[in-house]
Amino acid sequence: MNGRFESKVAFVTGGTSGLGRDAALAFAREGAKVVFTGRRSDAGEEVASAIRKQGGEALFVRADISRESDVAAAVKACVRAFGSLDCALNNAGIDGTLMVPMAEYRTDVWDAVVRTNLSGTFFSMKYEISEMLKRGGGSIVNMSAMAGLRSGRRTGAAYNATKHGIIGLTTTGAVEYASQGIRVNAVCPALIQTPMSEATFLKDEAMVQKALQMYPLGRIGRPEEVTSLVLWLCSAEASFMTGTAIPVDGGSLLI
Ligand SMILES: NC(=O)c1ccc[n+]([C@@H]2O[C@H](COP(=O)([O-])OP(=O)(O)OC[C@H]3O[C@@H](n4cnc5c(N)ncnc54)[C@H](O)[C@@H]3O)[C@@H](O)[C@H]2O)c1
Repeated sequence: MNGRFESKVAFVTGGTSGLGRDAALAFAREGAKVVFTGRRSDAGEEVASAIRKQGGEALFVRADISRESDVAAAVKACVRAFGSLDCALNNAGIDGTLMVPMAEYRTDVWDAVVRTNLSGTFFSMKYEISEMLKRGGGSIVNMSAMAGLRSGRRTGAAYNATKHGIIGLTTTGAVEYASQGIRVNAVCPALIQTPMSEATFLKDEAMVQKALQMYPLGRIGRPEEVTSLVLWLCSAEASFMTGTAIPVDGGSLLI
């Protein structure tokens, strides 16, 4: 396949659904060999087969991002299968409990969200960077959210804290590895139509109408509108970009 990622290997966490699935398919359409992780083998094999149907090469690795050994094994499997790891999208994440204020927030939910979103991103960066250093560079994109940019959001303590924390990991990684050819950026989507948002903010028409009021563009986003930014940041076109946290938000930060 022809494209910006020909002869490149892309690694995507949480590629079995939503934004990760869309990015995995897009990387493959643009010529990358794609390795992606997730927890469900049936969903993983479905995405791998969709990639092969469009003429691409893909490997699904079952891995729980909150377990360091799973992440290390997935990165190893990527390099074993395709010989490299040039671009990474650290996307896997959960939202925990969004509508509960802090004093009532369950500690086990907090632990799960921190372990998945924040430790999972740290584990991913740690092993991806080790591989990229052996090959003279690479590009990493971390999936933060509007919740990582906006201050003073009510409820969803763990989600807000971890999405802020992901930007901290992004800027730290960017500065630590810039001189060794590794760029690290974050993307910060607002509400995008995926299984995650359909199960939380878009459960019924009243919720959809409430959500629409937050967007000057008058609609919520589509996965491909996040994917296009992710791929651009990973591409050579973004060669002077590192340490950024870019909103994809339909103008919602303005109001
Ligand atoms: N959809 C939105 O509105 C929105 C907005 C901002 C940010 N995000 C972020 O985008 C990312 C993807 O969200 P989505 O909307 O596509 O949701 P989704 O639920 O459709 O997909 C989440 C993916 O992460 C994977 N995942 C979750 N926990 C995992 C774990 N422990 N180990 C391995 N994989 C795991 C799931 O298997 C799935 O593939 C998340 O980090 C989310 O916080 C989403």
